[in-house]
Amino acid sequence: MKCIECSALGGNIDEVLSMSSDAPKPGSEEVQKGKGKTMIVKVEACSLSRGDSIMLEGSCDLMLNPKLPFVPGMDICGVVEEVAENSEAFKVGDRIVATNGMTPTGGLAEYAVVQTNNAAKAPANITPVQASVLPNSPIAGLHAAKAAKLKEGDRVMVLGGSGGVGSALLQLVKDAKASFLATTSTAEALCLSLGADVVVNYRETNWYEDERYKAEPFDVVIDCVGWRDEWKEAYRRGVLKSGWNGGLSMRALCRAG
Ligand SMILES: NC(=O)c1ccc[n+]([C@@H]2O[C@H](COP(=O)([O-])OP(=O)(O)OC[C@H]3O[C@@H](n4cnc5c(N)ncnc54)[C@H](OP(=O)(O)O)[C@@H]3O)[C@@H](O)[C@H]2O)c1
Repeated sequence: MKCIECSALGGNIDEVLSMSSDAPKPGSEEVQKGKGKTMIVKVEACSLSRGDSIMLEGSCDLMLNPKLPFVPGMDICGVVEEVAENSEAFKVGDRIVATNGMTPTGGLAEYAVVQTNNAAKAPANITPVQASVLPNSPIAGLHAAKAAKLKEGDRVMVLGGSGGVGSALLQLVKDAKASFLATTSTAEALCLSLGADVVVNYRETNWYEDERYKAEPFDVVIDCVGWRDEWKEAYRRGVLKSGWNGGLSMRALCRAG
């Protein structure tokens, strides 16, 4: 089968990625080996997220760095080609979305081996390309929204509102009827279209220094960038009400698994 292989970590993408056309197609033995918990999926679309770039950069810790060469691409949408007969969740022909997480058995291939407990039926009303995005960033956004315990009327600051996680999260914040601001340097129109009341360009201004927000401090800051500790400064300056729920870092979510 055809696939894209990565031959080295941290290199120039144009040099380290190459097309291979003679990779072995996964078959029944994989399904048997998986004892009913794996299936073979014909990949229709594979989405690449920040997690994929971290893996390609070689920035995972030693436990997670893949053995070379490997096929990148964590998240896919595709059609089940083979699954254990006794599988209750899936049958041949189902269109599914799945993530393989930080494993080197990626979706940039014609076929992928997928763990059934990492898969779900794809929604019928969106395209495979759209569906392939669902298993990763929007789920992280959902976790962040739940952890933030958003409620109607909250004032929320979303750091990194334009990213994969942030753009999903903005919609959830809107859904919770909170009022909110989002930071981005590249996609103001996107953040506004997803419901942000105000968009702040973090390259032009430090939102936590803005005196106007002291009069109406935030209830929660959700960090979808992953490493911004600005919420602490915001709390110190009285721009954020509570330091306890104020810093929800995606990095912390990563650590929590
Ligand atoms: N726990 C999980 O399962 C999980 C899943 C997915 C992601 N994550 C983590 O969540 C974080 C976000 O992932 P993502 O996929 O949404 O990333 P992404 O698509 O690359 O988005 C990054 C966001 O951060 C903003 N940003 C970039 N540099 C910045 C800076 N110097 N200061 C302030 N904002 C900056 C970007 O804004 P502009 O480009 O508009 O400037 C964009 O809004 C990452 O740390 C990722 O590892 C965790």
